[in-house]
Amino acid sequence: MCGIMGYVGTRQALPILLDGLRRLEYRGYDSAGVAVLENGTVQVRKSAGKLSVLEGALALEPLAGRIGIGHTRWATHGHPTDANAHPHSDCTGRHVVIHNGIIENYVGLRERLQAEGHKFRSDTDTEVLAHLIEAEITKMPADLSDRLATAVRAAVAQARGAYAIVVLSADEPDRIVAVRMISPLIVGIGNGEMLLASDIPALLPHTRDVLIISDGEMAVIEPGRVRITDLDGRPLARTPERITWDAAMAEKGGYPHFMLKEIHEQPRALHETIMGRLDEVHRVELDGVRYPEGFVEQLDKVWVVACGTAYHAGLVGRWTIEHLARVPVEADLASELRYRSPLIDGTTLAIAVSQSGETADTLAAAREARAHGSRLLAVTNVVGSTLAREADDVLFIRAGPEIAVASTKAYTTMLVALQMLAVDLGLRREALEPARAAELLAGLRHLPVLAQDVLSRSGPVEALADRLARLEHAFFIGRGLDYAVAMEGSLKLKEISYLHSEALAAGELKHGTLALVTRDTPVFALVTQRAVYEKTIANIQEVRARGAEVIAVAYDDDREIAKHAETVLRIPPVDDLLAPALAIVPLQLFAYHVAVRRGHDIDQPRNLAKSVTVE
Ligand code: AGP
Repeated sequence: MCGIMGYVGTRQALPILLDGLRRLEYRGYDSAGVAVLENGTVQVRKSAGKLSVLEGALALEPLAGRIGIGHTRWATHGHPTDANAHPHSDCTGRHVVIHNGIIENYVGLRERLQAEGHKFRSDTDTEVLAHLIEAEITKMPADLSDRLATAVRAAVAQARGAYAIVVLSADEPDRIVAVRMISPLIVGIGNGEMLLASDIPALLPHTRDVLIISDGEMAVIEPGRVRITDLDGRPLARTPERITWDAAMAEKGGYPHFMLKEIHEQPRALHETIMGRLDEVHRVELDGVRYPEGFVEQLDKVWVVACGTAYHAGLVGRWTIEHLARVPVEADLASELRYRSPLIDGTTLAIAVSQSGETADTLAAAREARAHGSRLLAVTNVVGSTLAREADDVLFIRAGPEIAVASTKAYTTMLVALQMLAVDLGLRREALEPARAAELLAGLRHLPVLAQDVLSRSGPVEALADRLARLEHAFFIGRGLDYAVAMEGSLKLKEISYLHSEALAAGELKHGTLALVTRDTPVFALVTQRAVYEKTIANIQEVRARGAEVIAVAYDDDREIAKHAETVLRIPPVDDLLAPALAIVPLQLFAYHVAVRRGHDIDQPRNLAKSVTVE
């Protein structure tokens, strides 16, 4: 998830671009860059690091020009270096591109363009777009009007993926061309000037009149004029909207808190995690994961290490990998691993799961595993993080920046990353039938749509939060994968609501904790695992017999469950192995709405930090 900015008008572009990028920095902050058209030449300045590094350089040598584009990056392909920072230019330096999203088929496009003689200067997927535009422009007659827009349309027709791209060309000095496919893009309509941004906060100092560009649309902005077309160049009539949010709301996309925004970003984040990694049949292509010859076949153990929410995702990973790849899997809290004298060696695959890639306990456990000779695979969100740099293999979850301390979209994308990893290991070890793999991959592809469906059902969750806002204790129970989800649901409630909650394997209740269950302790029962359905119902009966109110999370087609629970939070039916990414969503929403009703600081709960870099 990157930040995009564009300006064309009568004022100097650079200060407007930098101000916009500062307001978008929450979207990405590993590198930044600008391009300004100065005396007919495209001048690019970019650097790794926070925006302040670029600002420092530009303060010494500013750029003058009334048209320009700017970008803050959240790396997905290629490390956060100067070369990989945007904008990217073609071979001539006359056309430059900034991009938010992923070009799935960039490897093939790059090989083709290189064979045609194009010289690449970065490792990014974005650079192929600059060269594609150059190649298309070269084919066009010099007197054709709208050459740039036509070339951009021809270029994006060859690219697959999710993107918002913005193009500036020295050949058409009064115009910026932009296209949206899935990633956000907004035009700001000023007085004699036009702006482009990937989010509204960047536009608010200049205008409140905006056009939200939709998927498959192109915007061509000029001073005082905007044209919207489809990708065949057919004009589209659009009416601007007036934004009434204040600046703080705008930064959160209109949501009152980052946590709620991030909960709602899950369908798109899941889509990005999966994108380009599953083929139409049953193969998984995990970029960044390259096991040595024979390693997977000889693998005799997988060891998952992580903390907090990442550990809960790791528990789902343990279950799924063991189930599909038929290899023993252990999952350890990273802070505990070292004191166990772990039995790990060169035939072990250690998987360290961490959103930030900087959690001290996880790094220490990962280093311990490597010291024992294990291969280290990182599942992380942050390209260039310590964990990503130290690991042998890295699977990026592509969730985009997660700002709220309570992790939501990182959790669900970790689940999907680990599930893809499990299918891949299962296939490589011939433990998983290709037909079953195909079924699971089809299920994974469908998850973003189903997650959107679950999000649209927040009404009953809010009503429940209204009723239970003052509760002091809660229990979460489930069996198998439902137990892992119960642990995450319970943590979410604790960390932002500050109430006591505990997750238990449903079968374990009767061995002690049942003594605490009364009419004042609501029990959340996860009931998505069909193989243990009746056993979980029996545990629900145990708590109901002690007067507890039961809130079940169950599939739409479960007609039985309403007889056993006061409230049922429904999710669409899905393969049981894939249920966790859906079952957690109502629990995230419940935790959020309870904490709001209790008046807590949602995004920065007391005593907690987003990234825990001390052991
Ligand atoms: C959960 O909401 C917390 N933010 C916390 O448990 C977190 O998952 C843990 O600190 C691990 O962080 P990491 O994924 O960045 O390593």
